[in-house]
Order: sequence, then structure tokens, then C-alpha cells
Amino acid sequence: MVNVEKFVEDAINEIKEKVKDGKAIIALSGGVDSSVCTMLAYKAIGDRLIPVFVDTGLMREGEPEGIKEIFGKMNLVFVEAKDEFLNALKGVEDPEKKRKIIGELFVRIFERVAKEHKADYLIQGTIYPDIIESQGGIKSHHNVGGFPIQYKFKDVIEPLRELYKDEVRDVARYIGLPEEIAERMPFPGPGLAVRIVGEVTPEKVEVVRKATKIVEEELKEYEKWQCFAALVGKATGVKGDIRVWGYIIAIRAVGSRDGMTADPIHIEYEKLRKIALRITGEIPEVSRVVYDITPKPPATIEYE
Ligand code: XMP
Repeated sequence: MVNVEKFVEDAINEIKEKVKDGKAIIALSGGVDSSVCTMLAYKAIGDRLIPVFVDTGLMREGEPEGIKEIFGKMNLVFVEAKDEFLNALKGVEDPEKKRKIIGELFVRIFERVAKEHKADYLIQGTIYPDIIESQGGIKSHHNVGGFPIQYKFKDVIEPLRELYKDEVRDVARYIGLPEEIAERMPFPGPGLAVRIVGEVTPEKVEVVRKATKIVEEELKEYEKWQCFAALVGKATGVKGDIRVWGYIIAIRAVGSRDGMTADPIHIEYEKLRKIALRITGEIPEVSRVVYDITPKPPATIEYE
């Protein structure tokens, strides 16, 4: 485990020395890695840091507002792009195509902001396991949204490159980020879009967002890697004596060390029943709730 105090001092010095009197840009997602990086860079270069938050409309409830609350005092560029993302996803059912559209759109927006602000440096929250995974060819983490950035920077700075996730969480606490960020579960770049099987519509996003909030609330105290809701299809139900053709919500709650393999956690029957009743009771469009008990492999953690 690193000496947190020394790490913070060294990271701030490194950013200062590299950026000098230039400007740096960082994609801020609200996850622990990019939040820590943003705070360190802000301490190093103040208003010459441009954190960019893109509201894709595919975030969890309260996320964009939370960002403004925590990072609003900075030179934050908040890009409202909900309609752009939803329009681009209209009619698209293929999972890979959905990911590609989201990644490309994100990069285009990010490049636009970098150019507008004449940023010379790119700061990224890449952590040690990301580097290892990229080398193994498992995932390409060394870029924003899965796509390389064409815009030319003088340098790319990765202050967290030697840290593991738990060390990043320690740094987050040390520099005073709220617990909700220090402890935040991983959340995929393409957001709720990969938790909706098939076409993404504004209605489905709203349904899965509300269901996610309920699952997160109910499983708050459980030891887990991730827990969330996914919208997996439609089924018949009876609500108020009327037959409805509603959505099926799957509860996904897994334990894992690194996300490479995972196992559903044990949840008592009464708790599962409570979650099912809350989701169907509080979200009129949902007619059925299931609990996904498939480990990874063969299933992945996310649905798409
Ligand atoms: P899967 O679904 O492949 O997910 O079992 C493994 C872990 O990776 C997260 N995940 C992503 N993270 N961008 C990310 O930054 C992505 O596109 C992405 N897809 C999956 C997932 O939440 C899980 O923790």
C-alpha cells in the first residue's frame, strides 16, 4: 500500500511540472478514478484545469447534479448532450453498435471542447489494472469512451497509473472526496444503455434508472462488487385488475475481485421479494422482476 500523503504530494508536483503554465483537460465521469484525478489536478493547476462532464442522459439518478455540487467551483465544462445521445441511439438494437455510437459521440464532444479551450495536456484516470488489461489485449482503457482521441496533446498525464482501485479509494478519502464517490461501484462508460437489452428509448432509460435506485437503496449494506437493475424485455402482468404488457426488470448483484469473474451474492428471499414489490409498485411500467443467478462466466456482469 502506498503512503497516501506522499503519493498526493508527488502527483500534484508531477502535474505542476508537466503542465507548467499550460492548460489541461480531463474527462470527468463521476467515478472514483476520474474524480480523484480531477481533484489532484485542480490542486496542482487550479483554473487551468478544464474538467469536462458529458451528460449523456444515460447516467444514474442524481449523477449530473452531484457532479455540479462537488466540482462546480472549478472551471467545469458541463455538456448537456441527452438529446444527441438518444437521437443517435434511436432504432439501434445491436449491442456493439450501441457501444460504438456512444463511444464515438463522446470522443467527438470531448475533442470539440479540447479544441475550443486550447488544452495542451490530457489528464487521464488510468489505474494500474487498466494498463495490465490493455497489455493483455482484454480491454482498451487507454482512451476515452473506447476510442482514441485524434486531437493532439503535448502530453498525456496519468497520475494514478501505479495504483490499485483500493488505493485510489484511500486517496479519495484522504483528499476529502465524499464517501459516496470514494466507495462508488464501477459504472460502465456507455451507462444505462448497456443495461437495456435492445433499443434504448427515453421511457426505458427512465424505468431502468428508477429501478436501479431501488436496487442500490435496498442492497446498500451488502458486500458486493456491483448491484444494479437491467431492463431485459417485456411480459404480461395484472395491475389493478387490468392486464398490462410491461417491462421485465432483472436484479444483478455480484461479488468479484476484479470484474473478470463474478458470482451472484446471496440475498435472502424476503429481501428479494421486497425489491420485487417495490419495483413493480413504484414503477407502473414494470410488470415483472427476476433475480439473475448466473455467474461470470458464462454470463457477463453487464447485459450488453
Ligand atoms: P462485463 O459486463 O464485461 O463487465 O462482465 C466487467 C466490468 O467492467 C464494467 N464495464 C465497463 N466499464 N466501460 C467501462 O468503463 C465499459 O464499456 C464497460 N463495460 C463493462 C462492468 O460494469 C463490470 O464492472
